Amino acid sequence: MTPQVADNSSIASPDGREVAIQTTGLTKVYGSGNTEVVAMRDADMVVHAGEVVALLGPSGSGKSTFLTAVGLINPPTAGQVTIGGQLVMDGPLPKVNLRAFRRKYVGFVFQKSNLIDFLNARENVQIAMELNGMSSLAARRRAMQLLDSLGVSDRSEHRIAMLSGGQQQRVAVARALANNPKVILADEPTAALDSHRGRQVMELFQRVAREFGAGVIVVTHDHRTLDVFDTIYEMEDGIMREATAKQP
Ligand SMILES: Nc1ncnc2c1ncn2[C@@H]1O[C@H](COP(=O)(O)OP(=O)(O)OP(=O)(O)O)[C@@H](O)[C@H]1O
Ligand SMILES: [Mg+2]
Repeated sequence: MTPQVADNSSIASPDGREVAIQTTGLTKVYGSGNTEVVAMRDADMVVHAGEVVALLGPSGSGKSTFLTAVGLINPPTAGQVTIGGQLVMDGPLPKVNLRAFRRKYVGFVFQKSNLIDFLNARENVQIAMELNGMSSLAARRRAMQLLDSLGVSDRSEHRIAMLSGGQQQRVAVARALANNPKVILADEPTAALDSHRGRQVMELFQRVAREFGAGVIVVTHDHRTLDVFDTIYEMEDGIMREATAKQP
């Protein structure tokens, strides 16, 4: 049998690892005239499949701007976003159907879990797959598996309001993983959790990156969990840089 030749050579980086997310020259200018704010300038990042990246930086430094640009919910003014080897944003211009692409390839976890209150835990996960065209039965089965692997299957039929903050966060992570995304983006997902729960969620991201081969970016202020991450980036005044090696 002839081996299949990949038709998109940009998927692998020079060291042969698959690239999940790549941004080049990502720039965002909000407003114009004397209200103009350059929130992000020339941000470059490469996240490989299976890698977890932390994004640090003071308030207002551009972290959420970066994350929402990568998550295709806030178009950049300039620069490119490439996901799984495919160019998806070229400056403010989408190169794919953003809604469909996001649903299929991107999982988002916000600080407040933004789960749907009137659905139970299982339904919150299930609906993400149904919206993506999966049958109810298959979606239900996979939702249960995900909740089980996140340790909340015993709460599957409980409404969101009946779950603890940590349990809600796990359901949100299950939902973010539902469609096997290439990309998982989390904006301060542990801000509402105590340090023990916070660490558990970070370790979960690491496990998911490894097991599912996703690229994960987590915005965090929690310096105690940085050991979980493969690479640490820092933003300051809209400028992204890779943090230097940990201090001895
Ligand atoms: N919709 C918007 N319109 C105008 N300016 C904005 C908008 N969103 C963000 N900004 C500005 O862009 C800059 C970066 O904001 P951003 O939300 O990305 O920061 P952040 O690093 O996520 O901060 P925090 O840690 O407080 O969440 C800030 O100066 C902010 O005021
Ligand atoms: Mg923010």
